[in-house]
Amino acid sequence: MGYGPMGRCAPLRCGLAAAVIAAVVVTSLAEAASRTPPPLPVLPVPTAAQLKWQRREVIMFFHFGMNTFTDLERGTGREDPATFRPAALNATQWMDAAAAARASLVILVAKHHDGFCLWPSAYTRHSVRATPWRGGRGDIVREFAGAARARGLDVGLYLSPWDRHDERYGREVAYNEYYVAQLHELLTGYGSVSEIWFDGAKEKNATNMTYHFEEWFQTVRQLQSSINIFSDDGPDVRWVGDENGSAGATCWSTVNRSMITIGEDGIGKYLNTGDPRGKDWVPPECDVSIRPSWFWHKNETAKPLSKLLEIYYNSVGRNCVLLLNAPPNTTGLVDDADIARLREFRAAVTAIFSTDLAAGSTATASSERGAGFAASNVLDGSDDTYWAPTSEDGRRKGGYWIELRLRPADGAPAAFNVVRIQEHVATGQRVERHEVYVDGAAVVANGTTVGHKRLHRLAAPVAGRTVRVWLASRRGPPLVSAVGLHLDQFAASMM
Ligand SMILES: *[C@@H]1O[C@H](CO)[C@@H](O)[C@H](O)[C@H]1NC(C)=O
Ligand SMILES: *[C@@H]1O[C@H](CO)[C@@H](O)[C@H](O)[C@H]1NC(C)=O
Ligand SMILES: *[C@@H]1O[C@H](CO)[C@@H](O)[C@H](O)[C@H]1NC(C)=O
Ligand SMILES: *[C@@H]1O[C@H](CO)[C@@H](O)[C@H](O)[C@H]1NC(C)=O
Ligand SMILES: *[C@@H]1O[C@H](CO)[C@@H](O)[C@H](O)[C@H]1NC(C)=O
Ligand SMILES: *[C@@H]1O[C@H](CO)[C@@H](O)[C@H](O)[C@H]1NC(C)=O
Ligand SMILES: *[C@@H]1O[C@H](CO)[C@@H](O)[C@H](O)[C@H]1NC(C)=O
Ligand SMILES: *[C@@H]1O[C@H](CO)[C@@H](O)[C@H](O)[C@H]1NC(C)=O
Repeated sequence: MGYGPMGRCAPLRCGLAAAVIAAVVVTSLAEAASRTPPPLPVLPVPTAAQLKWQRREVIMFFHFGMNTFTDLERGTGREDPATFRPAALNATQWMDAAAAARASLVILVAKHHDGFCLWPSAYTRHSVRATPWRGGRGDIVREFAGAARARGLDVGLYLSPWDRHDERYGREVAYNEYYVAQLHELLTGYGSVSEIWFDGAKEKNATNMTYHFEEWFQTVRQLQSSINIFSDDGPDVRWVGDENGSAGATCWSTVNRSMITIGEDGIGKYLNTGDPRGKDWVPPECDVSIRPSWFWHKNETAKPLSKLLEIYYNSVGRNCVLLLNAPPNTTGLVDDADIARLREFRAAVTAIFSTDLAAGSTATASSERGAGFAASNVLDGSDDTYWAPTSEDGRRKGGYWIELRLRPADGAPAAFNVVRIQEHVATGQRVERHEVYVDGAAVVANGTTVGHKRLHRLAAPVAGRTVRVWLASRRGPPLVSAVGLHLDQFAASMM
């Protein structure tokens, strides 16, 4: 558009400009008027912090403390701080492990059940202050948080409720006051904390003690507004019910928190599968160590790649976040062999998922809700766009389906042995049953829930020209953000 040298325009030109602007405005108004609004969310839905957590997929845990030096998994609380002497502790090197696994959040066990604190707490003498390490002036929480942030990683902390050292344990008010005081230290002294871990573990015969969880949770919220609180019972992230990295084949992000008592026996099954009718959005996190134990022991080594991949499919591939533990050794470093295994693990995941054999295919569906909700959205690589059917669709015979007509580059049907399906969980978890068909007939995979990500690893590669996913939904139409097909060269059938 030409303006005169003085910033004014001739009347004719001005009129033209106005007409063009008016036309543009009219067109965009018309477009806006014809755009279909997104479907209503189906409650419960995740908070922004929970969604961010879910999309991390793999995060890391570091168990280090007195047990590292006493060769125990559960210290008695009577350990002599003088035995804590890492020769060359380097938290920056720990972050090499997180970088190898490409984890975006690292969680440190700041105090385990033995009560020994990795930071110089003002409320106890049983801490790094009483050790020879750094002349008693060290602070592992500070070094850890600093090293993480320097690498662009977010920080999480674990503070064991069960404390076998502190003499206040068993005195309800005194111990809860001590615990809240330590929450204040950890959540005000070390910058932003993205996750806090409340472990329900405790021996049966341990001193009886009532934890004031509600006061603890509210304190945490007051001190860190965007944190996720982990416990058996959330409120933000729940335990998956086992320590081998395995979610239920049915895995809802929803539960009724009123059904869960932290630390109680017999809640494992409920936590493992969630509750299709749950009122609370509390998705599960799968904590598992890359070694047999949580703490470092000389007699142990990292799990093989095949086992780590199985864990990945059973956790991330079942709507969970995988919390992988890498324990630093008595030197104060993560074993190089463990870091190498983590790198191998990430390289394998990248090799499997960086190529999507569904890319370039044509997507059709049982119905489309309207502009912005096309079936092709499942192929655009974004978690924020999705295919939405019409709400009437599900009532028709045959139910909801989406089909990909594959366009292999060389004309031959592409062989795949992994099917990836993702729901747009931001608007609620909906799918309760699904089946995957190849070329019309054969069902190659089926299951119940989908959630943020469902991965099916097939017994052997299959090839075909069309892949159809059939879906039954519990609440409202299914909203599918991705369908992908991959070739896992590490599967047993490929070796
Ligand atoms: C600590 O580890 C980092 C990362 O591996 C390394 O670059 C650095 O040199 C180490 N620092 C010391 C003092 O060894
Ligand atoms: C508690 O039980 C454990 C085994 O679970 C046992 O090793 C320990 O000695 C018991 N402690 C007490 C105080 O009875
Ligand atoms: C522990 O204390 C609570 C509350 O004081 C009580 O309800 C519970 O029965 C006690 N448990 C045991 C095993 O003594
Ligand atoms: C994981 O642990 C649970 C309970 O601890 C057990 O029932 C299940 O068989 C284990 N799964 C695997 C794959 O080891
Ligand atoms: C969870 O709560 C909902 C709503 O109150 C209820 O319908 C459902 O049955 C509850 N789940 C269980 C397992 O009791
Ligand atoms: C290694 O030693 C530790 C401590 O003695 C023990 O708890 C653990 O079970 C042992 N691990 C294996 C795989 O034997
Ligand atoms: C701890 O790991 C580091 C890095 O691999 C290694 O140099 C050191 O020897 C290990 N310490 C022990 C006690 O194994
Ligand atoms: C998957 O298919 C098998 C074999 O037909 C069937 O037994 C199973 O119930 C199906 N599972 C689901 C969740 O539909």
